[in-house]
Amino acid sequence: MEYVNRLGTHSYKWDGLKKEFGDADLLAMWVADMDFPSPPCVTKALHAYIDAPLGYFSTPDSYFEAVMQWEKERHGYQVRKEWICVTPGIVPALHWAVRTLTAPGDSVMVSTPVYYPFMNAVKNSGERRLVECELKKTGMFYEFDYDRFEEDIVKNNVKLYILCNPHNPVGRVWTREELEQVVAICKRHGVVIVSDEIHQDIVNPALGRKKVTTATVGDYEDGIITMAAASKTFNLAAVQNSFIIIPNPQMRESFSTFLAQMALDDVNGFGHIATEAALRGGAAWLEEVLQQIYGNFAYLKQRLAADCPEIKLTELEGTYLAWMDFGAYCKTQQDVKHLLQDRCRIAMDYGAWFGGGRHEAFARMNLATSRENIQEACDRIVREIAKG
Ligand SMILES: Cc1ncc(COP(=O)(O)O)c(C=O)c1O
Repeated sequence: MEYVNRLGTHSYKWDGLKKEFGDADLLAMWVADMDFPSPPCVTKALHAYIDAPLGYFSTPDSYFEAVMQWEKERHGYQVRKEWICVTPGIVPALHWAVRTLTAPGDSVMVSTPVYYPFMNAVKNSGERRLVECELKKTGMFYEFDYDRFEEDIVKNNVKLYILCNPHNPVGRVWTREELEQVVAICKRHGVVIVSDEIHQDIVNPALGRKKVTTATVGDYEDGIITMAAASKTFNLAAVQNSFIIIPNPQMRESFSTFLAQMALDDVNGFGHIATEAALRGGAAWLEEVLQQIYGNFAYLKQRLAADCPEIKLTELEGTYLAWMDFGAYCKTQQDVKHLLQDRCRIAMDYGAWFGGGRHEAFARMNLATSRENIQEACDRIVREIAKG
């Protein structure tokens, strides 16, 4: 896959380094987006769109059909058109879901370590209590601790659970059996599940299984909201479009009414055009990107095993985000920053950002880039660690 140097293109990952890390001269391996050209079908559709007048946009039926077809064919999820709410991203949708599906004083649970905006969606929603239930870690393998999961729900009277499926940052693609247990516990206690499935298409081809849609498990569809998008799959974050699937009519009503009351129900044409084009014509591009990502992971894994075996790496079942433990060399986030940022000149997401309090010595590396960048990052890490 061709590499695009995105410096100077208003890329948050590259051009936002100074703002986020206080230093512009770093190898950017943080924010989860890709350094690859957009799928040609997307560029072509957007070019055609800008030739027309850019007045107010209304979601076409063809968009809903493309979403329904993608969900059915790729993920075995039979979605009805009226279940789909379009939002300008999943992070805003998470915030709105917390506000509309819970009341002040309610508890909302997440499984840490997890994509940090999950925690922000709860903290920013005013008077909701955040419950951080840690995943169980054996070596570098993460799974649910079902006893603790249920205990935390009961103890805190949890009303809403935000699931990450596949899970950023630990790279798990939850199995049907795992999801069955999670869904059964939530159902037993009347806990609504928001399942963020934005990484659903980024699954390691070598894994030999696909992501299972949480809503298709355990006869609890009415209690599950699926949040998905083409944005991670096809690298379309800038056009801000995601599809929120809410089968339960009351929940859908609360969610949509909130959007309408906030006048957030107008939609952006670029996002729709890009998403539909990608879902309809992007399959070959995606295949190529997956080869690149998991080839990069294989390189990273082999390189660390050969040159720096003390750095521990989770298996990458899904996502393009490698979760690495620098605990042999670092204790605190400050130590990790000193090693990665000050000495190696690399920007990665720090483990402490992902909650749970046990991941200060971790960092997350974005693999959706050139092999050269991965090699360069490995060279720098190996060299600096060798210096002691
Ligand atoms: C689990 C997860 N959800 C949501 C997002 C971002 O969603 P959006 O850009 O649609 O707000 C990301 C981006 O990394 C993510 O990893």
